[in-house]
Amino acid sequence: MKYRECNIVNKHPRMGVEILHDCDLSQITESQISELKKYLWEHGVIVIRNQKLTAPELKEFAIKTFGDLTLGNRDKPIKEEIPLHLQSSGVSILGNPQGPNHNINGKLAWQWHHDKDHLPRAEGLDMNSLYVVMLYGVEIPPEGLDGEPHTTQFIDTIEVYNNLSAKERQQLETYSMYHLSPILPKEGEEIPRKLHPLVSTHKVTGQKGLYLGSDTSILQGMENKLEEAKQFWQELFQTILKVTPVYAHIWKPGDIVFWDNSQVMHTGVPYDNTKHQRIALRVAVMANSIF
Ligand SMILES: [Fe+2]
Repeated sequence: MKYRECNIVNKHPRMGVEILHDCDLSQITESQISELKKYLWEHGVIVIRNQKLTAPELKEFAIKTFGDLTLGNRDKPIKEEIPLHLQSSGVSILGNPQGPNHNINGKLAWQWHHDKDHLPRAEGLDMNSLYVVMLYGVEIPPEGLDGEPHTTQFIDTIEVYNNLSAKERQQLETYSMYHLSPILPKEGEEIPRKLHPLVSTHKVTGQKGLYLGSDTSILQGMENKLEEAKQFWQELFQTILKVTPVYAHIWKPGDIVFWDNSQVMHTGVPYDNTKHQRIALRVAVMANSIF
């Protein structure tokens, strides 16, 4: 669904602050790590520019900074057609690393969502889980399909909550949603749905925000009315967009954008993958320490 009446800004009072100017993240110090985390919880989205990292360096930085030792535990086979420095277990390559072509990796990202909101399957990873996503822009398309600069867009779900009326907030407090994987299960495969309150409190800031997943989320009570559930989600999101601006980060090569998945939603923006190349490295961690 294309959402209308959306106010897109490239500067936002809270999200998208640039930090650690002139810092090489492969050499980050303990005090810089503390600064990075402080800004991340406070701003939801932060940006560090001018990085030149290999995929293994990015993974090492993520482990050192956030202490997630599970990152990259599973071996990933090397793909000969992709440069070695872009490959590491625990690091995903988004876009079209082999150059312009008709196959694109990541179309699901072109819709509003929280990452991995349905995981783990049974419990956890709610808004209180400090799930941090790092996206490192290596090759940036010159423009999106709309002719505008290539961006990733974010919405501040805490701002959303505060911008709704007291009556709307009160009503939403009573709701929960089932969160599902955006990837449909194979025939006969049963994937447990995770139930999550729609309004949730952030672990670090104590602020309330909305945790919506994506438009595959099903309002409790609408399990057997999937069309109605989708319509409910989309109408709620349209209401949100009317009262809350969308922050669009304009990419430059070497940017790393970090977001606290528990307090922002995001969407990728389509570009012409038959004409342009995009390479972004994605690493995500469960932050084991707040400071
Ligand atoms: Fe995503």
